Amino acid sequence: MRQPSPTDPKWSDVTPRSLFLDRRSLMLGAGALAMAGPAFAAAPSRYSVTEPPTDREAVTSYNNFYEFGFDKGDPKKHAGKMAVDPWSIRIDGLVDRPGTYDLADVIKDQPLEERIYRLRCVEAWSMIVPWIGFELSGLLDRVGVQSGARYVAFQTLADPAVMPGVRAQNLNYPYVEGLRLDEAMHPLTILATGLYGDPMPNQNGAPIRLVVPWKYGFKSIKSIVAIRLVADEPPTTWSQAQPSEYGFYANVNPQVDHPRWSQASERRVGDGLFARRRDTLMFNGYADEVAQLYSGMDLARFY
Ligand code: MTE
Repeated sequence: MRQPSPTDPKWSDVTPRSLFLDRRSLMLGAGALAMAGPAFAAAPSRYSVTEPPTDREAVTSYNNFYEFGFDKGDPKKHAGKMAVDPWSIRIDGLVDRPGTYDLADVIKDQPLEERIYRLRCVEAWSMIVPWIGFELSGLLDRVGVQSGARYVAFQTLADPAVMPGVRAQNLNYPYVEGLRLDEAMHPLTILATGLYGDPMPNQNGAPIRLVVPWKYGFKSIKSIVAIRLVADEPPTTWSQAQPSEYGFYANVNPQVDHPRWSQASERRVGDGLFARRRDTLMFNGYADEVAQLYSGMDLARFY
């Protein structure tokens, strides 16, 4: 993906030792840096939660990535066939510097951080995931957002050759998502290139995916190939598939139930079978940071 150059900081210069659990992951880190970009050059963040991360095995084997099938185990089973190197992202629309950017170029100069975030799926399960990523705002600043832009639209790879769900058309593909520009520019909104200190596993959305922790997980679109700055609210896959069940905003809100189930509580993946469900938090616990984005909006309404 990216040839290291002599001017690059060495991973050991910029990586807190705490990100390395043992010598083996340290060696993997050094090798993967040359191949997959600096997933390891990450610093801890003040935005991280202090809850213990969900077991890595669960994070990487209990997935939603419908392009690879409906079942939680399908992405891990099939996503290995997706080629993530080389990878490029088309960035266009209302930007000063549109183009097709190689992934190495996209992440160049973006400060990577470990962000330990809550992930709350609309299906009422949750996890704590130690992502590695950078703020989307940094990339948008670099490409130059024009004044008419009010939304950001994202698109996932759709390759029927390697994606059984795309072949079966179990949803409308390519999977698309969107954010309002101020949501996209919020410091909690990241593009993640790794988790648990390693490059992103394919089933979690390699090589680069969005993470918007105060919204239901379906907003956090995986394996991004296109980003477009637009004037009008863009279509999103789930709101097109079931407009009465999945809105554009999709902010986590325990008071607004899904038409077919309550959103008041959630099952934390990894909790025992008989563990008590946890209360779901307004904006998934990020209300202090993001509630002001929605002042004037009726949060009891379904968006
Ligand atoms: N992105 C794409 N392209 N396709 C998907 O099916 N599923 C979403 C989201 N991003 C999905 C996607 C849903 S419903 C959730 S909960 C999260 O990815 C799950 O992310 P994880 O598998 O890394 O936990």
